[in-house]
Amino acid sequence: MQLIPPDYFRRLDKEEIFPDQQRKLEIDLGCGDGSFLTGLAGHHPERDFLGVERLLGRARKSYRKACRADLKNLKVLRLEISYALEWLLPDSCASRIHLLFPDPWPKKKHHKRRLVTAEFCAALGRVLEPGGEFLLKTDDAEYFEESMVVLMASPDLEEIAWEDGAFFYPQTDFECRWLGQGKTIQSARFRVSA
Ligand SMILES: C[S@@+](CC[C@H](N)C(=O)[O-])C[C@H]1O[C@@H](n2cnc3c(N)ncnc32)[C@H](O)[C@@H]1O
Repeated sequence: MQLIPPDYFRRLDKEEIFPDQQRKLEIDLGCGDGSFLTGLAGHHPERDFLGVERLLGRARKSYRKACRADLKNLKVLRLEISYALEWLLPDSCASRIHLLFPDPWPKKKHHKRRLVTAEFCAALGRVLEPGGEFLLKTDDAEYFEESMVVLMASPDLEEIAWEDGAFFYPQTDFECRWLGQGKTIQSARFRVSA
């Protein structure tokens, strides 16, 4: 389904995303074609999933994939990640937030477009529930290093181990592409500090 907020000028209530407050909500920032999220939502019918994606074509692909698979626990919000995270999503609503292969903006003059900033980390701390997790993957070593410096400096987050195969985690569309090209993938997992 699509998530169309009733009002873009106030924070959503959690039940406006999915009605059952007792279910865990996971959010995929920049969900692309939705392969990762449909895989995860199919595997975890007991959890709810929200994909955030700004490109219309990709948001539509994710939405169609969810419809074809008849996934009632997956919605797609077509919006800018920063706006959704900072202004729209309710406090303590998500058990996990995924940021998988964010655009690395390699040119120095474009670095200011990178998502992982101190403001982004503060927003993660607000939107994640106590004990909630943030999961990051990228093939870009320089962006990974820069992001880790910012994430480690955040008073809201602490790094935790993420062993291979620790839990079901489908490969994303971009992950398959980069692995196919022999690139190395870096990953990190953080938890909201107690
Ligand atoms: C490199 S792709 C990765 C897609 C997917 N996560 C994957 O791993 O296959 C980055 C995605 O994030 C989306 N994106 C980048 N910046 C965004 C932003 N500020 N707001 C919303 N979506 C964004 C892009 O449109 C694109 O679909």
